[in-house]
Amino acid sequence: MRTVYVNGQYVPENEASVSIFDRAFLFADAVYEVTSVLDGKLIDFHGHITRLERSLSELGINFKVDADALLAIHRELVSKNNVTEGLVYLQISRGAASDRDFMFPAADVAPTVVLFTQSKSLIKSALAERGQKIVSFADLRWRRCDIKTVQLLYPSIVKNEAAKKGADDAWLVLDGKVTEGSSNNSYIVTRDGTIVTRELSHDILHGITRKAVLKCAAELDLKVEERAFTIAEAQTAQEAFTTSASAFVCPVVEIDGAVIGDGTPGPIAKRLREIYIDANRAAAI
Ligand code: PDD
Repeated sequence: MRTVYVNGQYVPENEASVSIFDRAFLFADAVYEVTSVLDGKLIDFHGHITRLERSLSELGINFKVDADALLAIHRELVSKNNVTEGLVYLQISRGAASDRDFMFPAADVAPTVVLFTQSKSLIKSALAERGQKIVSFADLRWRRCDIKTVQLLYPSIVKNEAAKKGADDAWLVLDGKVTEGSSNNSYIVTRDGTIVTRELSHDILHGITRKAVLKCAAELDLKVEERAFTIAEAQTAQEAFTTSASAFVCPVVEIDGAVIGDGTPGPIAKRLREIYIDANRAAAI
């Protein structure tokens, strides 16, 4: 059984509890981070903490981020649960008021802090080896997708709808252009070898993996354009892929029924996956 962390305490997962009045439960009033673990070490921990701080501040959740303290908790959980490869999930909500109320609780209500680990194989991935099939859906999320909140109902619905259609994941389309995947950033590689991914705005999550992968691309002297693209453009691309902390760089081989490239993971996506894993594994803490 896992040991999890709740508000200052390490407890067995079946003894962990939060109030039914917690605002994460009633209002999805919470932010989260998912940090990957390789060789028992955290990948890009400080990138995740920097984004956590921004999400909290955008929503005015009164939690003082102490990076060293959070690092110690992450490490303690990784060690207690013997995680060599997998993820650490961190969630901070605005806290539990004494009743359900749309108004935010008083400033002295403490945020709820929950962390748990998930052991899973990340480097060896059947999906990355065969490539993902994607179907597109309208992006019906709220328009502050740059804040990493736990309002994940719509992404969860489209991922299920994609599975019903025999696909692996969903890409979301706003005003005719792809924003991002259900839980990842989206990319295409044009026929002249340019990597295209949507520019940062309120319409997408500013992926920590995205930033690291674009750095790898620059080091490989690959051309990158940060701009929106349509599903039609993606369907005629040479390659496509997604990035996230949970799947790193993951090739895409089909979009709305159109085969991408030769229908197998493309060389640029494969190379970026290797380089990303090597560089970030070496820098893990
Ligand atoms: N999801 N876009 C969305 C909508 C996401 O939910 C995620 C991450 C990303 C990629 O961000 P990063 O590279 O920082 O992981 C982009 C996480 C992994 C999740 O919800 O499980």
